[in-house]
Formats: sequence, C-alpha cells, structure tokens
Amino acid sequence: MADSNHLPSPTPSLEDCIRHRHSIRFYTSDPVAQDLLYESVSLARLAPSNSNIQNWRLTLASDSARDRIVSALQKASQANPPTIAPLPEQFKHFRSEFGHLLYGEQGYNIPRSAKEAHRAATMRNYEFFGAPVVGVITMDASLTTVDAMSVGMFVQTFMLALTERGLGSCLEVSVTGYLEVLREGFGIGEGQTILCGIAVGWPAEGNRVNEMVVPREEVESVVTMLRD
Ligand SMILES: Cc1cc2nc3c(=O)[nH]c(=O)nc-3n(C[C@H](O)[C@H](O)[C@H](O)COP(=O)(O)O)c2cc1C
Repeated sequence: MADSNHLPSPTPSLEDCIRHRHSIRFYTSDPVAQDLLYESVSLARLAPSNSNIQNWRLTLASDSARDRIVSALQKASQANPPTIAPLPEQFKHFRSEFGHLLYGEQGYNIPRSAKEAHRAATMRNYEFFGAPVVGVITMDASLTTVDAMSVGMFVQTFMLALTERGLGSCLEVSVTGYLEVLREGFGIGEGQTILCGIAVGWPAEGNRVNEMVVPREEVESVVTMLRD
C-alpha cells in the first residue's frame, strides 16, 4: 500500500524508504553533492543480475550539461510529438486513472477544459521537472527482457538510497519519445538501449503534486499462491 510522503528522520528503516519513495515532480534549485549520487550508485550496484553481468548503466548530467540537454529536449518537444510505444489496451485504464489523479485536485489541479495549462504541465517532463540532476538508464543493446529486470532492481535500489538521503526522483519514459536527442545529449551510442530517463534532486516542500499518494492494487491481485 502506498503511504504518505514524509520520511521519518533521522534514521529511516528500509521499510520507511520503500513506503516514502514517491515520484517527485517539483524540485528546489539546490545542487546535489556528487558524493550523495556516488553513495547511492554504490548501493544500487549491489543489486542482483543474471550471471552477475551488472548490465546497468546510468548517465547523469548536472549544471550546464543538464541545461544543454533540457534545451534540446524542449526544442524537440515543441517541434514534434514524442514517439513512444502505446500502452496495450488492457492497461490503459491505469493510465487514465493516474492521469485523473495527476492533473486533478490532488495533483496539478488543472480543469479538463484548460488545454494549454494541461499541455504546459505535460511539457514539464521534458525539463525533467526542473531537477538539477537528469539522467538516462541504459543497458547493452544485445540484452533482452530478463536483463532489463536486473536494471529495474538497480534503479529501485538507487531511488531508495536517494530517498534515504532525503533526495527525490522521478523515472521518465516520456523523454524516450526523443531518443536521438537523448543519444546526442548524453553521449549514448547505438550499442546501448536507452530504457528510461530519471530526474533527481531535492523535493520542493509542501508541493501538492509531490504529496500525491498513488494507489496500488491489492496484494491478492498481484500474487498467486498455489498450494496443491
Ligand atoms: C518505467 C517508469 C517510467 C515512468 N515514466 C514517467 C514519466 O514519463 N512521467 C512521469 O510523470 N512519471 C513517470 N513515472 C512515474 C510513475 O507515474 C509512478 O511511478 C507511478 O504513478 C507510481 O507513483 P509513485 O512513483 O509516486 O509511487 C514512471 C515510472 C516508471 C517506473
């Protein structure tokens, strides 16, 4: 079950970090010390992987590198719609429910009729929600689904380590709608598959969108227990 967004301090448990990690979509402009990022990656690389191939790669950008990438993404997103694989039909209701939450009263609070405000909020994806550290998560292009599992474990561990340090993050498939811009901006060659973007920074306190609690399915829907 998702929980509130406030991390008990000063020594949160693993369970606290799991419960209190939420996607953060408003950041302060405060820089993030490299040490905190390296500590978090150092923990994340302890994630398991198939034959210990450790096939996760994370490319992060801050300062002028970040600004350069954000400018290129904003330019591309103003010129052309993103190219992203559509969700299969049976999952679309989740997106629609999440969209109501994000743009509704608990989130951005933008009326359905306010098309321009809606668009502006969506376009915030392409500035990584104002995060001072932006990134892409990649893996070797010769690998397949099972290896993407390992990358997922790396990423969740990374985000939990960030949470423990008071930092916020948001994964962003949206930016992969402009793959060529990401390749150019982050210097990612064709030998790597870009799986997702990520925003990292200090959460803006008291922001309603950051406080949103996104529901989860019941345990019984997730696990099947066979006994005979
Ligand atoms: C692979 C992946 C891609 C995501 N892409 C986006 C995105 O492009 N934009 C966005 O606002 N949130 C994105 N999210 C965040 C999800 O909307 C969020 O994880 C989900 O609604 C659950 O909310 P929570 O992270 O606050 O618990 C993504 C999450 C994952 C795991």
